[in-house]
Amino acid sequence: MKKYRVFATCDIGAEALHRLVEQGYELELYDRVDPPPKDLILEKVKSGVDALITTLRDEIDEEIFQAGKNTLKVIAQDAVGFDNIDREAANRYQIPFTNTPEVLTEATAEFAFFILGCVSRKLYPSERLVREKKWKTWHPYLPLLGDEATGKTVAVIGTGRIGKAFILKCTGMDMDILCHDALAEDHEFIASLQELFDLKFKSRLSKRRSTIRYASFKEALQNGDYVSLHVPLAPETHHLIDDSALDLMKPTAYLINTSRGSIVDEQALYRALKENQIAGVALDVFEQEPLSEDSPLRDEQLEERVRLFHHFASAGRQTRLSPDPEVGMAGRCVQGVIDVLAGHYGGDPFRMPYVVNKEAFKSLVSDQ
Ligand code: GLV
Repeated sequence: MKKYRVFATCDIGAEALHRLVEQGYELELYDRVDPPPKDLILEKVKSGVDALITTLRDEIDEEIFQAGKNTLKVIAQDAVGFDNIDREAANRYQIPFTNTPEVLTEATAEFAFFILGCVSRKLYPSERLVREKKWKTWHPYLPLLGDEATGKTVAVIGTGRIGKAFILKCTGMDMDILCHDALAEDHEFIASLQELFDLKFKSRLSKRRSTIRYASFKEALQNGDYVSLHVPLAPETHHLIDDSALDLMKPTAYLINTSRGSIVDEQALYRALKENQIAGVALDVFEQEPLSEDSPLRDEQLEERVRLFHHFASAGRQTRLSPDPEVGMAGRCVQGVIDVLAGHYGGDPFRMPYVVNKEAFKSLVSDQ
C-alpha cells in the first residue's frame, strides 16, 4: 500500500505531528524557525507529497495548486485565517484546504482584552519606570495616568466567533457594547446579553445597566472609547481603518487589532497618533510581519501610547500545541490532514468539519 507523504512547512508541535506518523504517513518536516522558501514548497509539491501543512507565512498560490494538481490531496493550515491561500485556485484544482477555527477563539479574545487594558492602563510604561529605576515617589497623577475600561463603551467590529468571545470578556467590565458586522448580525446573542446586563443591574451586581446593540460602522467608531477589530482580511476589509475611519474616532479612544494587519492603514494610523486624533493603539498584527525595523509605529515619541506584539494572540500553550483537535490548533490541523487522507466522512470533503472551501465539493453531495 502506498505510504502517504506529508510535508509540514513548520514544526507545529511534536505530539500532534506524531499522530500523522501513527497513521503510517511519512512526515517530512521543515523544522527551522523561519519559513521555507516558496521554491522548496513548490519542489515538495512537484515531488508528489499528498498533504501540506502550512502556516500563515506560506504563500499558497496558483503555482502551488497547479504543481499539485494530480497529487496534492489536502492543505492543512495551522491557523484560523487563510488569506495566504488562494481559495479560487484551490477550487479550480479541487484541492480541499482546512483551517483551525474555534480552538483559538478564547485565547485570541482574551488577548485582545488584555492588550486593551495594557495600552489604556499604561502597563508597559509603568513597568519600565520601575525597571529603569525612575520611580521616585507615589504621586496622585505623575508621571502617568491611564484610562479605565470599566463602564466605558467598546465598539466591536466583526461579531463572528472571536468578536463574540471578546464581547463576553468585556461583559465583566460593565461596558456598553456597540457591535458592527457588515455580513451577519446575531440578534439572539445580543438579546441574551442584554438580559444578562439587566439581571446584573436589577440584582445590584452592577452599578450601571450596560447596553449592547448593533450600530452602523460610523456610529460604532464615533462612540467607542475602545474599538476592537475582529474581521477576516478580504478585499472589502483591506484598510477598513483608514484616514476617514480614524477621523471618526474620539481623541480619547484606543484602537485594538488582533485580526490581520492590513485591516488598518498603518500610514494613516501613524498620522492619527501623531496628530492626537486617537489616544492609543494596541497591535498584534501588522501590514508587514515581522514589523519592519523602520516602521513609523516604532516612533519613540509615541511609545507610551503604542503597544506592539508579535502576532501572539493565539499563543497559549494548549491552544497552539494540544494534539487534541477539540483543544489545540496543532491537533485540529493534523486532523484536517487525517480526515482527507484516511477518507473519513465517506471521503467527502464537503462533510469534513475543518475543510474551508466546501463550495468546491458541493457537487459530491448533490450527486448522492
Ligand atoms: C492567527 O492569526 C490565525 O489566523 O490563526
